[in-house]
Amino acid sequence: MSIDSAANAAYLIAALLFILSLAGLSKHETARRGLTFGISGMALALIATIALVLDHQPPTLGIVLMVGAVAIGAAVGLWRSRSVQMTEMPELIALLHSFVGLAAVLVGWNGYLEPDLHGELTGSLLGIHHAEVFVGVFIGAVTFTGSIVAYLKLSATMKSAPLVLPGKNLINLGILAAFVILTVWFVISPALWMLIVVTALALALGWHLVASIGGGDMPVVVSMLNSYSGWAAAATGFLLGNDLLIVTGALVGSSGAYLSYIMCKAMNRSFISVIMGGFGIEAASGEGKDHGEHTEIDVSGAAEMLAGASSVIIAPGYGMAVAQAQYPVADLTRTLRERGVDVRFAVHPVAGRLPGHMNVLLAEAKVPYDIVLELDEINDDFADTDVVLVIGANDTVNPDAAEDPGSPIAGMPVLHVWEAENVIVFKRSMAAGYAGVQNPLFFRENTQMLFGDAKDRVGDILGAVKDQQGAGV
Ligand code: TAP
Repeated sequence: MSIDSAANAAYLIAALLFILSLAGLSKHETARRGLTFGISGMALALIATIALVLDHQPPTLGIVLMVGAVAIGAAVGLWRSRSVQMTEMPELIALLHSFVGLAAVLVGWNGYLEPDLHGELTGSLLGIHHAEVFVGVFIGAVTFTGSIVAYLKLSATMKSAPLVLPGKNLINLGILAAFVILTVWFVISPALWMLIVVTALALALGWHLVASIGGGDMPVVVSMLNSYSGWAAAATGFLLGNDLLIVTGALVGSSGAYLSYIMCKAMNRSFISVIMGGFGIEAASGEGKDHGEHTEIDVSGAAEMLAGASSVIIAPGYGMAVAQAQYPVADLTRTLRERGVDVRFAVHPVAGRLPGHMNVLLAEAKVPYDIVLELDEINDDFADTDVVLVIGANDTVNPDAAEDPGSPIAGMPVLHVWEAENVIVFKRSMAAGYAGVQNPLFFRENTQMLFGDAKDRVGDILGAVKDQQGAGV
């Protein structure tokens, strides 16, 4: 068997492994197996590609450089994935998407400037090649700058509030229209200036699309950029004539698009509006309202309240992850349950900074699965609950989302914690959450604030509850 057919067979197997990987990743019980399939598929694809390149040309400086680049990339990737904090994962993912976008732009430009290819392709094939170059560069450049803005917003280097330029929808639609016209023109007469113009327009569009989306919608943006990076890879596959890249890109592109759609439905957002950079959403502020005074509670007061409770719901959020408070939270849960208190967790679909963030942390701290409930499963139970502990959550428990149509997060489903008899909010200050909007929950009569680092405060309460137990309270 020639190296060519062996490599093609390896590509086919790798594509199947990627499909099995996606299937595995859809459930947490099979996620580990899914990852193993994905890693094996990628290793197989890399080996087949290197064998194919070596077979087609003798070892040259270019190949040595390529292997060197792969080795350096692998070393940096290994180091980063070992050192990254879980709370930094979304920004790392956004940064990685930007690499896919940049690669697509560079491959596209190379496809245009590479003189050999121009000699081989003639007639309609050359036209198709030019269309591939143009589309690949466009999607790649949008993905590149869009992902960089997402990275800057997620790492809090850039403000998470949406950028609202006058006529923002017209700007986006104008760039899209210019792209379509330029593509047709480029296919007919490919001039360098058009490639320069479309690259610049697409870079601006990517930046503008993501900058126009507010913090509350960032989870959808990250999965949307995931989808764009897949289509950018597929476009690169067409240009390079690499079937595996086409299949893999299409898998990432379509699964990312579907994930964005599911997330939009879960967050009650319009899919079209989000992919079009907040199309149809005008500036909403919700700020500047006078919410009145908040009340505070201390550790012994909180412990006393828990001592008198028969039902408790814990609503965790990003702050629990930052403080790594899941371990004392799990200890407190165990202690209260031993006393006969009904303790459950309410997990919002976008609590934290990545889907499933809270579930992973709680599982890590050995909180039993059966007391960890999703928003839909538990939202009606708050009204019959004695005490709700909001631990480092903010946007996900903001009543304005349900009650104020003018709020930037209006319509997003939230946990109805305010319906409980008592609410204790653990956070360090009165600062706003990720979406940058104030939370009227903190000023409600049945809410009391417990300031400080969540891990320390939960640890203190655990100590106080155990002391009560020792004293026979
Ligand atoms: P946030 O709204 O981000 O609020 C977290 C709160 O935790 C903050 O108000 C902060 O207040 C508090 N906090 C931070 N460090 C703390 C510490 N060490 N101890 C105690 N409290 C601490 O969190 P959320 O309710 O989980 O909502 C998630 C938000 O992130 C949503 O807007 C969502 O759209 C967005 N987002 C989600 C994802 C995904 S997929 N889940 C991805 C990107 C963005 P202080 O500073 O006052 O302490």
